[in-house]
Amino acid sequence: MKTTHDTVVILDFGAINSQAAAKIVRSLKVYCEVLPYTAPAERIAALKPKAIILQRGATCGEATLGRTPTADPAAFGVPVLDLNDLPCDTATIEPFLLKQCGLRQDWTIEAFIADAIADIRETVGDRKVLLAMSGGVDSSVCAVLVHRAIGDQLTCVFVDHGLMRKDEPEEVARVFRDGFGIALRHVNAERRFLNKLAGITDPERKRMIIGEEFIRVFEEEARAAGAPDFLVQGTIYPDIIESGGEGGKSVKAHHNVGGLPKNIDFKGLLEPIKYLFKDEVRQVALALGIPASIAMRQPFPGPGLAVRCIGELTKEKLDILREVDAIFRQAIVDNGLEKQASQYFAALTGNRSVGVTDGARTYAYTAALRAVQTTDFMTARFVKIPMDILEKISEQITTNVPQVNRVVYDITSKPPATIEWE
Ligand code: XMP
Repeated sequence: MKTTHDTVVILDFGAINSQAAAKIVRSLKVYCEVLPYTAPAERIAALKPKAIILQRGATCGEATLGRTPTADPAAFGVPVLDLNDLPCDTATIEPFLLKQCGLRQDWTIEAFIADAIADIRETVGDRKVLLAMSGGVDSSVCAVLVHRAIGDQLTCVFVDHGLMRKDEPEEVARVFRDGFGIALRHVNAERRFLNKLAGITDPERKRMIIGEEFIRVFEEEARAAGAPDFLVQGTIYPDIIESGGEGGKSVKAHHNVGGLPKNIDFKGLLEPIKYLFKDEVRQVALALGIPASIAMRQPFPGPGLAVRCIGELTKEKLDILREVDAIFRQAIVDNGLEKQASQYFAALTGNRSVGVTDGARTYAYTAALRAVQTTDFMTARFVKIPMDILEKISEQITTNVPQVNRVVYDITSKPPATIEWE
C-alpha cells in the first residue's frame, strides 16, 4: 500500500497463527505488513520499514534462526524484535514499537478510509468501475469506498440467484441504492438459476452450476454496463497472507462472488480492502455508516441456501427454509446468544416424516438447526443452546411453518462434520 504511515514488517517463519503479531501491531494503530520469511530483501526494503518483527513458529528450525534465506534483518538498519522465546502479545510488542522505536500511532480507521479513497480516485481517474455486490460486509465496504471516491462512475451488480436469506435482496437494495445512492443493478436471476439446478442433487454439481451461472450473468451485466475498465474485488488481508503475500503465489479468487468473469477484459483490478483483517473491515463498515446488520453479518456462503437445502433445489423448499432460518436467527438474537455463535442457521433436510397436527396426520419436512463457535472456521464446536430455548424455537417453527413437522438440533462439531450441510 502506498502509505505515509510508519511501517512495521513482520517476517513470518511459518508460525501457526501467522496473523497474531500483525493484529497486535494494528491494534496499537501502527501500520504493518506480513511477508513470508522467504521474501527477497528488495521486497522488504520497498516497504521502508521502521521496525521488523520476526514471528517464529513450531516449524521453524535452528537453520533459520535470526535471518532469512535472502536477507539479514539486521542489515535494514532498523530495530528488530525476534519473537523467538518471547510471547507474541501486547506486553511484548507495545514497548518495542512505542518506546524503543518511537513509532507513530496513526493507523486509524479514519486514516485508512481517507487513504483508500485517495488511492481509488488516483487509480481510476475518469474511468468506469464494476463491482459484484453480494450483500456481505466485504463487498459492501468496497462499494461504499469506491462510491465515495468516484461516485457514479461505479456500477454495482447484485446477482440475486434466489438462494438468499429472507428479505436479504430487499435489504441490499434499500441500504445501498436508497441509503447510499449507489447505482445498484438488482438482477433477479432466480428462475434462471433454479432452471439450471432442476433435478440436480449432488452438492458439488450444485456448487459448480451456481458458480458458472454467476459468471455468465455477471458477464452479461458487465457488457450491459459498457464493459467498465476496472473490476472491484473484496480480497482481504488473510487471503493475501495465506497465499504468500503480495507478489507471492496467486491470490485466491474472492469466493463470495463465485470466481472472476473470464471473457471480459478489465484493464485493472481494484482491491480496496486487501490490507484489512476481517474485524478491521467491520470497523470500517460501521465508520462508513453501513448498518450493523450488514457490518457485523455472519459469514454466508457464495452458493447461499443451496448448501443448506439438501437434495434437489425447488422454490418451495427454499421458501420453507427461508422462513425456518429467519425464525431461528431471530431467536438467537432475542435470547442473547449471538455472541456465542460464529455462525448460526437452519438447513432443510431432504427428509420427510410422519407427524400429527390438530389430530390429523401430516407428512412434512425435518428442519435442522445449527449454531457453531469457531475462530478460524477450520474447526468448530456446536453451541450448547439451553434446552428450554430450543424447545420454544421448535414450537415457533412448527407453528409458523406447517411444511415442517420435526425440528432437530445439530450437535456435531467440525470435524467430523463440516459447518455447512453440503
Ligand atoms: P464448511 O462447511 O466447509 O464451511 O465447514 C467453512 C466456512 O466456509 C463457508 N463456506 C463457503 N463460503 N462459498 C463460500 O463463500 C462456499 O462454497 C462455501 N462453502 C462453505 C461456510 O459458511 C463456513 O463459514
